[in-house]
Amino acid sequence: MQKEIYFAGGCFWGVEHFFKGVDGVRSATPGYANGNIENPTYQQVYTDTTGFAETVKVCYNPDRISLQRLVRLYFTIIDPASLNKQGHDEGTRYRTGIFYSDASELPLLEAEMDRLRAACQEPVVVELEPLRNFYPAEEYHQNYLDKNPGGYCHLDIKAFAYLRMYQDFALIIEGETDQIARMAEAAALIQERLHFFWTGFYRVQGDQLVLGPFQGPSACLRIGYGKGVCGTAWKQARTIVVPDVEEFPGHIACSSLSRSEIVVPVLKDGQVTAVLDIDSTEVGTFDRLDAAFLELVTQLI
Ligand code: SME
Repeated sequence: MQKEIYFAGGCFWGVEHFFKGVDGVRSATPGYANGNIENPTYQQVYTDTTGFAETVKVCYNPDRISLQRLVRLYFTIIDPASLNKQGHDEGTRYRTGIFYSDASELPLLEAEMDRLRAACQEPVVVELEPLRNFYPAEEYHQNYLDKNPGGYCHLDIKAFAYLRMYQDFALIIEGETDQIARMAEAAALIQERLHFFWTGFYRVQGDQLVLGPFQGPSACLRIGYGKGVCGTAWKQARTIVVPDVEEFPGHIACSSLSRSEIVVPVLKDGQVTAVLDIDSTEVGTFDRLDAAFLELVTQLI
């Protein structure tokens, strides 16, 4: 069985490359979708007058990957609040959108859009539309980043490392019911693949967070509710990115080497049961991409 979904996520070279690396995806084809002429050329689309969006047609095996997981992966690599601009690329051809060819998927897609809107601080501008037309792009755009290693890609290279780490993690922990084992595996994989300074979990125990599985130097054992970055992420039940720990009031310096951090809550039925805390020795290490991928990881915890 094969299904298809169309993602517009900025320059299609990087988006194609990303989805080619997704387990369960059979093919990812860059092309032009939902425009107003027939058989457009890249030069025509480039003028931004044809209505087309650079789009990747993703064919997948629904027994191996769900549409929900595909959509959530797509959301990790876009800025959903940026209108007609992704990375350095600007124009309506770089707008973001999910275009579906099967209307029965609309409820799921709408639910995922609602979820994204709830999580996003700014208005979401991602389109959700039926697919009106799609034309595969010229041959030289197909497999562009394979043909041109090191070629232009608007996606941060860490997206590809995160994708592999996330997929490996999902495979390894499949069927594992022990939460501490899953936490230990996540901490090890994140550390091994992304090379941060400290990666670990704190678990909610009463009114405190207690140190759980981690990788890295010795760390504080307990953190109070609302204290430090971890306690704040628990209290606010949301991901907190701290570009510079010196500018976060109440930051708890377990190590003076830590310069920036991200804390992602682990949620169960809307309640925070633990937090994933990652520290870096550089300022400004973490951004939307880290937050989006680490939220996917915590959903598997
Ligand atoms: N810096 C954290 C404390 C935990 S350590 O970074 C491992 C905070 O302020 O919550």
